[in-house]
Amino acid sequence: MPNNFDEQLISQYDELMNAWPHADEFRSKGAEVIRNHIHENPKDRYSVFEIGSGRGELTKKALEIDDRITIIAAEISPFMYLDAQDNLKEYRSRCLLMMVDGLFLADQLSHIDIFMSCWTVHNLRENIRPFLTKAYRLLKPGGLFINLDKYVPINSQEKETMMKKHFERLQVLDPGLRKVAERHEREDLDSEYVQTESDTDFMRKIGFQEVQISNRYCLDAVVTARK
Ligand SMILES: C[S@@+](CC[C@H](N)C(=O)[O-])C[C@H]1O[C@@H](n2cnc3c(N)ncnc32)[C@H](O)[C@@H]1O
Repeated sequence: MPNNFDEQLISQYDELMNAWPHADEFRSKGAEVIRNHIHENPKDRYSVFEIGSGRGELTKKALEIDDRITIIAAEISPFMYLDAQDNLKEYRSRCLLMMVDGLFLADQLSHIDIFMSCWTVHNLRENIRPFLTKAYRLLKPGGLFINLDKYVPINSQEKETMMKKHFERLQVLDPGLRKVAERHEREDLDSEYVQTESDTDFMRKIGFQEVQISNRYCLDAVVTARK
């Protein structure tokens, strides 16, 4: 099963996002990192690969930054893919949206300027460390890695406090959806798919430079690095 993101969560995504009130601001902070990277590394064009575009929220923010940006975005869910097609129609000349397993597509690509993703990497059925190695391989030297996602503390007390806050936010959801969301979140947080503080050293070990964690919102953070 290449997508661990439950169909019910997909079909009620708008409602689900009520429990993530920071979502739009969080994605905007990610886009700001990309804007700064482009500003500091002037070039004629920038190729971006996005895994799990969902409905294209981060995709759109990235496309709006600069017309030199072209994006290949992989989305495995037909529902999300169709919404993204619609939401990104004005950017068709610079955005190739593909309904495909992003892990498969990542293996076909190389020499990418920017790898980006938002709340998807922990849903991929590949453990985080092999995935980080894959993302490193994809990039050109000097390329930017940016992952907006869960980032779990290693300190168990800190993890517990954050998890408590995180699960409190799910209280705004209707009971049926809340139950599915809680199960999904618990599975994520105990899995080998989610990025934790201990993976930051691993990123440096495989060659990433300037690994930075910013914009922490409870369990979420923006992880950036350069190849
Ligand atoms: C939590 S949603 C996040 C969507 C979007 N990035 C956002 O900011 O709202 C995770 C998305 O990743 C997609 N996904 C999961 N596994 C995937 C895979 N192997 N390849 C491509 N997309 C995948 C899911 O279908 C879902 O749309």
